[in-house]
Amino acid sequence: MSILVTGGAGFIGGNFILDWLEAHDEPVVNLDKLTYAGNLQTLASVAERPNYHFVHGDIADRSLLATVLQRYQPRAVVNFAAESHVDRSIHGPADFIQTNVVGTFNLLESVRQYWLAQSAAQQQDFRFLHISTDEIYGSLLPEAPAFREDHPCQPNSPYSASKAASDHLVRAWHHTYGLPVLTTNCSNNYGPYHFPEKLIPLMILQALDKKPLPVYGDGQQIRDWLYVRDHCSALRRVLEAGRIGDTYNVGGWNEQTNLSVVQRICALLDELQPRADGISYSTQITSVKDRPGHDRRYAIDAHKLESELGWVPAETFASGLRKTVQWYLANTQWVQGVTSGNYRLWMEQHYHA
Ligand code: NAD
Ligand code: TYD
Repeated sequence: MSILVTGGAGFIGGNFILDWLEAHDEPVVNLDKLTYAGNLQTLASVAERPNYHFVHGDIADRSLLATVLQRYQPRAVVNFAAESHVDRSIHGPADFIQTNVVGTFNLLESVRQYWLAQSAAQQQDFRFLHISTDEIYGSLLPEAPAFREDHPCQPNSPYSASKAASDHLVRAWHHTYGLPVLTTNCSNNYGPYHFPEKLIPLMILQALDKKPLPVYGDGQQIRDWLYVRDHCSALRRVLEAGRIGDTYNVGGWNEQTNLSVVQRICALLDELQPRADGISYSTQITSVKDRPGHDRRYAIDAHKLESELGWVPAETFASGLRKTVQWYLANTQWVQGVTSGNYRLWMEQHYHA
């Protein structure tokens, strides 16, 4: 028995594999294209384990997928592989359509062929777990109830539209072909090994570099933050006990404005690594031009996951954010590895830094 993880060299997939191998002996095969967001350093501690296998490849490559599925005979596929950054999707949507839509389609077709060739018992036990986002639901008004699983799908960015398309494909492959799928829609994650183009790690590193902390627009946009290891525990639970064909929202019950997130990061840095001049990092906060089409508010209602599968997050935002800031302070080598090359180019293009 083994599981196939796609996109396991990224932020959430990497944390998922590290967690999995801490808790299980069951082998993991990690298939990843190693885009700018994929980083094998994240998995250095497990790279030599006999129950970890890495395959460099694309989820759109059907002949590679057929070979990998035949060779490793996974009992489940956990699909993290995606282009994941909203701002990049605005600058260049083509990669998002290619991986998130065409790639998911090719993966589903390859997995379906593999699944069809299995015995009836194996077919019944097989799972295709698709990892998606709350961003497919669109933006909420300030007083509106949090997203439930039956909320209309109203994506607003090229990223969220491509993820919504992938969710629809996954749903259709279940209804039409009977593939035993599960889908999760999670809120914004944060934690170790997060590529520093996203809000939380970007702000930590910009602050330490004595650079401006670029808050888009008025900074009053709301996101619902979940510590990445809590997302991973939810995914393990859904894989284990989720109802086939269902979707599960995953969230931390933790709505924060962007400005308050950045202020909390500054306060933690003031405590853990104060500036030499004694001035607060919060003086580096700068308002910059807003993101086009910026969704105002996301909020997740995770009652279904809690009541049906008994999952609750272990971290509060205070404990998770402290762990995250401490991790970035302690892991400068990992940070150096990811902030060269493509990262610098992105910072120059997007922030004119
Ligand atoms: P990430 O950008 O950090 O990692 C994506 C990984 O996928 C990288 O390792 C990359 O090399 C790989 N990849 C990209 N294209 C590929 C392809 N064609 N074939 C194989 N591998 C490919 O993303 P993440 O933040 O870890 O997100 C993982 C998944 O979770 C995504 O599907 C994303 O939509 C979803 N999600 C993310 C968040 C979040 O806050 N980060 C929240 C909810 C859901
Ligand atoms: P991000 O981490 O890119 O996640 P997403 O857009 O998928 O929610 O951004 C989180 C929020 O932070 C979002 O409202 C945009 C905002 N943001 C900034 O204000 N400044 C930045 O430099 C970045 C990257 C994001």
